[in-house]
Amino acid sequence: MEKLGIPVMILLVAIAMQMVDCVEEGAKEVEEWFDKLPYAKQKVTKLHFFFHDRFAGKHNITAVRVAHGPGTDKSPTSFGLVFVMDDPLTEGMKPTTKELGRAQGLYAFSGRDELSLLMSFNLVFTTGEFNGSTLTILGRNPAVPHREMPIVGGSGVFRLACGVASAQLRSFNMTTGNALIEYNVVVIHY
Ligand SMILES: *[C@@H]1O[C@H](CO)[C@@H](O)[C@H](O)[C@H]1NC(C)=O
Ligand SMILES: *[C@@H]1O[C@H](CO)[C@@H](O)[C@H](O)[C@H]1NC(C)=O
Ligand SMILES: *[C@@H]1O[C@H](CO)[C@@H](O)[C@H](O)[C@H]1NC(C)=O
Repeated sequence: MEKLGIPVMILLVAIAMQMVDCVEEGAKEVEEWFDKLPYAKQKVTKLHFFFHDRFAGKHNITAVRVAHGPGTDKSPTSFGLVFVMDDPLTEGMKPTTKELGRAQGLYAFSGRDELSLLMSFNLVFTTGEFNGSTLTILGRNPAVPHREMPIVGGSGVFRLACGVASAQLRSFNMTTGNALIEYNVVVIHY
């Protein structure tokens, strides 16, 4: 191994400790889970929550601009713009209602001639029976009233999940860019 600087070492140790902390089942348990899979019953789970994407305002900022292309600022579709988010997912429309989890990941303006986003993020659940489990969304999010995005996998209770996330814009502040989006998720898992 090459000599690593102290900050890098601390970071690596921190990552390793975090992994031990949050992975509740080790490789052996996962293997056993797969061995039992032929006898497992498929389940359908439906989830409903609100997603708050905030760039400004009195609440904490939850989405940050991290990159752009050479012509992004002149592009009518913001082509090339990339954001990273850690957006709260709440039970109700108001940001003060119970937080169910977070949407962590990124989105990129990937339409050159039309407004369209590539979404690549995890729904990280932090309460109730799904606490510690995640669902992974990877899909296209065009500027239409009803958006449909694929759920391509999951972890914890959502191992091998697949499904669909339906998103609908509920409010958008033209000044700040803050958005409130309603999500209905249907997933098949075991
Ligand atoms: C948009 O956000 C600004 C700044 O927080 C706020 O003053 C304004 O009332 C908001 N507009 C709407 C329509 O909510
Ligand atoms: C902003 O974040 C800090 C630290 O995570 C938290 O203590 C505070 O309550 C948050 N403020 C609001 C308005 O959500
Ligand atoms: C969720 O799980 C974490 C880690 O196991 C735990 O610390 C936390 O208290 C749990 N939260 C709820 C609301 O159950």
